[in-house]
Amino acid sequence: VIEQLPLGQVLMQGLAGIFGGIAAAVIATGILPYLEHAFNITTPMKLLDYAKPNHPLLARLLLDAPGTYHHSVLVGNLAETSADVIGADPVVVRVGSYYHDIGKIKRPYFFVENQEGPENPHDKISPTLSTLIITSHIKDGVELCREYRLPRIIVDIVQQHHGTSLVSYFYKRATENEHSECIIEADFRYDGPRPQTKEAALIMLADACEAAVRSLGKPNVNRIEATVRRVIRERLHDGQLDDCSLTLRDLNIIGDVFIRVLSSMFHSRIEYPEDVPNLRELEKRRVKNGNCYKLSSGRDISDSSSGAACN
Ligand SMILES: [Fe+2]
Ligand SMILES: [Fe+2]
Repeated sequence: VIEQLPLGQVLMQGLAGIFGGIAAAVIATGILPYLEHAFNITTPMKLLDYAKPNHPLLARLLLDAPGTYHHSVLVGNLAETSADVIGADPVVVRVGSYYHDIGKIKRPYFFVENQEGPENPHDKISPTLSTLIITSHIKDGVELCREYRLPRIIVDIVQQHHGTSLVSYFYKRATENEHSECIIEADFRYDGPRPQTKEAALIMLADACEAAVRSLGKPNVNRIEATVRRVIRERLHDGQLDDCSLTLRDLNIIGDVFIRVLSSMFHSRIEYPEDVPNLRELEKRRVKNGNCYKLSSGRDISDSSSGAACN
């Protein structure tokens, strides 16, 4: 057919095709936000916009609660790694993780990851008030998400990431008091609802596992494995995963992935000897002994410029 048409017409139609394609892409990109709004759809492209560190709400989190920002990024990495394997949406999981604790911006110093030094504001208030402050980061988070017009899917994750779980530390502290018989367990639980989707449940587990492993004194693979399995088991037995579609097989896979990722994040580092001489002293010894010197631990350090170790 091309051979039967004049060359000029073929070129014209070819160019029209190219410009038509470009115009269609430009128009589609331009009207996409309006279509998203009209049909209440959040595309992965739109979601990725919320994951940019320069989003005003994320920038506020970094500035006002840097510890929570760091924790949220770790939770995002952890949860996203297992999202694909269990059929959850990795983009929703990552963005949801970044915002899950956004409500902590309101009172950052009541949360352990933002506390510097030995002072803890919870020491001066009752366990009941502490629980009220801790659990209010859900309500504050939902309000902030609505104020910044975040998509519904993210607001749901913020609201569900603790489900109706117990604030066990303050519940335990309250039951140790003299009037412990008046303590009602329900008063020390989050309002919920429990996670309704795989993505919200995955973030709940990643959040709890990251925090539990971070609190281990000297983490090693065995302790990390025991902690991750315990946290997942506790959430399951507490009924927090009853409303989502995660299976026991999924939970097993999530546990395996979390153990692998957390072990590489938190493994104990080799402790360096404290009596390593300072550089000036090392330099003096080097000049005195030639091109090599010995550390007090007895390990030889060779002068890299000489390219050979002395014995
Ligand atoms: Fe939280
Ligand atoms: Fe968290």
